Amino acid sequence: MTNTIGPDIIKRVRQEIPVLTRTTYLNTGTMGPSPAPVSDAFLRAYRMWQDAGPGDPRQYRAAREAAEPARAKLARFLGVRPETLAFTGNSTDGTNIVTAGINWQEGDEVIITDQEHPAVYVPWMRLQRRWGVRGLVLWLSNDPAVTLSRLGDLLSERTRLVLISHVTTMTGLVLPVREMADLAHSRGALVMLDGAQACGNIPVDIAATGADFYTTNGHKWLLGPAGTGAVYVSDRAFGDLEPVFVGGGSAKPVNYRQEPVLEYQDDAKRFEFGTRNWSLYVGLEAALDYLDGAGGISSASARSRMLASLAGEMFLRNAGISVLSPAAGSSGILTIKSASISGEELSNRLSEKNVITRPVREMDAVRFTFAFFNDETDVEKAAAALRETV
Ligand SMILES: Cc1ncc(COP(=O)(O)O)c(C=O)c1O
Repeated sequence: MTNTIGPDIIKRVRQEIPVLTRTTYLNTGTMGPSPAPVSDAFLRAYRMWQDAGPGDPRQYRAAREAAEPARAKLARFLGVRPETLAFTGNSTDGTNIVTAGINWQEGDEVIITDQEHPAVYVPWMRLQRRWGVRGLVLWLSNDPAVTLSRLGDLLSERTRLVLISHVTTMTGLVLPVREMADLAHSRGALVMLDGAQACGNIPVDIAATGADFYTTNGHKWLLGPAGTGAVYVSDRAFGDLEPVFVGGGSAKPVNYRQEPVLEYQDDAKRFEFGTRNWSLYVGLEAALDYLDGAGGISSASARSRMLASLAGEMFLRNAGISVLSPAAGSSGILTIKSASISGEELSNRLSEKNVITRPVREMDAVRFTFAFFNDETDVEKAAAALRETV
């Protein structure tokens, strides 16, 4: 497989991500290291705001407005309108905004998959405890046809929400989300996608997925600042989602002492409230520009997949190693399992050799994430560390 990001760009990018001089960093799936120009953009904006007098109404407004280009850029990047995106602090915020905002009835059913992050399965368990919702688990297969058929078997007239990853955190499996959304809609259910492992890993066009809700963050594959994220609410589902966390910003200005009329903002800003560190979004905008400057999401994604599948081939040369991710390498995530050593211990031992990964405890496995800034030497170093360890 070829990738179109030239060696000069990779060289520059690697110089701008300081951790790469010290470690083989293969855990963008937990947090992507922000390139220096991205951190600088955030810090510069924050410093400007603070130094200008953060509570000066003009500066407060300016800091808030400085985040809006990021909303527009992120919306374009995700194939939706800016008015459909609410800023959040992370991906889990979005899952909570959606799951807390639906008017649940006892006996409603919610389907998640067997490869979800706590960001999904904890809210899902809470729904069961708080509202008497029935929780169901869809066991995924690397074969999309099998997954779809199992989903068909789980859906019922009581299914209210299908709450699933776009790309799974455990193995990097890209789910056939369009087909799943169509199937769920045909049975009257809503669909929410958790895009935390998708945005910046693979090209994402939310509108094309058909999802009613989509949540993501800026600090993983987009290499943006921690504390950034967004939730998408489709026009179709907008009216059905009650804003649960509300305050300044969520509603239209009103003099409540004379006329206490609650009227929410007309767009997804109704899900935002209170003072935020808006400068973080200036950093996110810089991160989106940075990705564009490095060749764009299609090239970045192709490169990640190429590195993940190369790593898969090399790792499999070790006896007792099996690959849990889909064989074709559908994303930049590669999860492996050792027959002789636990996932936790393997990940720890790799860290001691300066190869940064993450254990997947549910599968007793280790996840390697390959971002566009990684290169073949990272794959070789990881392969060598693995060989020495197992
Ligand atoms: C699929 C998935 N969803 C959600 C999260 C949590 O994201 P956040 O920390 O932005 O809430 C993660 C983090 O690893 C993830 O992999």
